[in-house]
Amino acid sequence: MTTHKYFKDSFATLIHGDAFEYLDTIADGTVDMVVTDPPYFLSHNGISNHAGKMVSVNKGDWDSAKASDAEAFYDRFIVAVDRILKPDGTLWIFGTMHNIYTIGYLLQKHHFKLLNNVTWQKSNPVPNLSCRMFTHSTETILWAKREKGKQQFNYHQMKALNGDRQMKDVWTTASVSKSEKRFGKHPTQKPLSVLMRILQSSSTAEMTVVDPFVGTGTTLVAAKRLGVKAIGVDSNSDYLEIARQRLVDFENEKIGKIK
Ligand SMILES: C[S@@+](CC[C@H](N)C(=O)[O-])C[C@H]1O[C@@H](n2cnc3c(N)ncnc32)[C@H](O)[C@@H]1O
Repeated sequence: MTTHKYFKDSFATLIHGDAFEYLDTIADGTVDMVVTDPPYFLSHNGISNHAGKMVSVNKGDWDSAKASDAEAFYDRFIVAVDRILKPDGTLWIFGTMHNIYTIGYLLQKHHFKLLNNVTWQKSNPVPNLSCRMFTHSTETILWAKREKGKQQFNYHQMKALNGDRQMKDVWTTASVSKSEKRFGKHPTQKPLSVLMRILQSSSTAEMTVVDPFVGTGTTLVAAKRLGVKAIGVDSNSDYLEIARQRLVDFENEKIGKIK
């Protein structure tokens, strides 16, 4: 699959193609920040709940793989990020309990230092259909830096946003709203409020952010709202078209409340 530019404006660039092929084109040590939500590899014909109905957990072909393939995929990704990040650059990476421990282990294997284990707590989680375990209501976002790097952290801005108290690593917000899905849906779209907080906390207007698995472009919409340049890659052109429309109409998207 060859990569090519799908859309570009003064802040956002969308690339259609394979993330690894694109990452290979980036020079060593040149990226300020990678923010991404990679495939979970959870699509194994299981059952979940949507609006009270049993539905398949399958998200698409891009999300199906054997566990061993998933580990190799994340390993390859972390090696690529390690190569392109600036010495003080950081990586924000999303995951659920199914993949985040593998990702955390691999980050440490490749000598990244974990800065935070942020918990996104969903205020409106999907009820558990089986009634044999607790309702799943969180996702994790790891923030990692190079071993000797000095990360950008907008401490005072975060404190001010939190009523002049240090901000904690548990963030509560609802799942993606209708406004965020007005151009179409993605099975694992992330709330704009969460991406806004990530970028507000650790980016500056001088930085460029890369999201190699950008989906519907949430990272780029957040970056554009904050005046930060960002590049997003996805192998699925339907998702990129939603991302393009969101980027054109970026000022009209409602940002959910986040605590
Ligand atoms: C978990 S989703 C990201 C959703 C995104 N956070 C959002 O808010 O819309 C992962 C994305 O990675 C894409 N993807 C999977 N494998 C890829 C690859 N090798 N190269 C580029 N994109 C890929 C999928 O098409 C999917 O949109």
